Amino acid sequence: MRLLFLGDIVGRSGRKAVVDALPGLRRRYALDCVVINAENSAGGFGITQSILEELIEAGADAVTLGNHAFDQKDALVFIERYPQLIRPVNYPKGTPGRGASLIRTAGGADVLVINVMGRIFMPELDDPFRAIDAELTACRLKQGADAILIDMHAEATSEKQALGYFVDGRASVVVGTHTHVPTADDRVLPNGTAYISDAGMCGDYNSVLGMDIEEPINRFITKIPRQRFEPAGGPATISGLAVEIDDKTGLATACGALRIGPHLEPAAPAFWAT
Ligand SMILES: [Fe+2]
Ligand SMILES: [Fe+2]
Repeated sequence: MRLLFLGDIVGRSGRKAVVDALPGLRRRYALDCVVINAENSAGGFGITQSILEELIEAGADAVTLGNHAFDQKDALVFIERYPQLIRPVNYPKGTPGRGASLIRTAGGADVLVINVMGRIFMPELDDPFRAIDAELTACRLKQGADAILIDMHAEATSEKQALGYFVDGRASVVVGTHTHVPTADDRVLPNGTAYISDAGMCGDYNSVLGMDIEEPINRFITKIPRQRFEPAGGPATISGLAVEIDDKTGLATACGALRIGPHLEPAAPAFWAT
């Protein structure tokens, strides 16, 4: 199975880059499953129903979220109607939507997609480790699902690495999101889980984490907000993780960065020779 994960879409330019590139990527690499984090897709804050529809139309099998999941309040309602829209699993009980979803791909495989949030320098949600353990116990790799992807939405690389090793051999992929900066530590862990601390963002990298640079600089210097954060509007670079999964074991055999756009060194998975 060939799985592609793309990191946080930021604003209109990030959306455009993903929607423009995804149909071609699906064809070129014969992708079986595409998962995208879109917590910043609506003007940098949250997601709308029409954006979700646009991403599904472009070829996303599942869309994950994070601390910005419900910045657009409508998401509290429409999330119930979309099993492919997944918010952090460790929100308080009673939070609308679901934190894990079994996604049937076009090829007939079932991929369990889980979104979870870290707690270091983040809102204090339930224990992410216990929440993930419960999900992996309820739906085991190759019993309940052909592949399992965990989007670990967290600030601290230590917490993300710990979660990676905590589930090594029980999940196909652990991909970090939230920091919007791709890390260079993509690898398959010893027991077969593909891992990267952060997938990077899909957005304009001439920015501070996807936002126009003026207001972030102002806030660091003066500590007084002057205006709201606005997504940077230049052409976007898309960034993510490509994963090859063994159909027999559900574990990863290879993974590597995928980056396309004007800002970062381009990267494409060599193990997906076209
Ligand atoms: Fe984000
Ligand atoms: Fe985030």
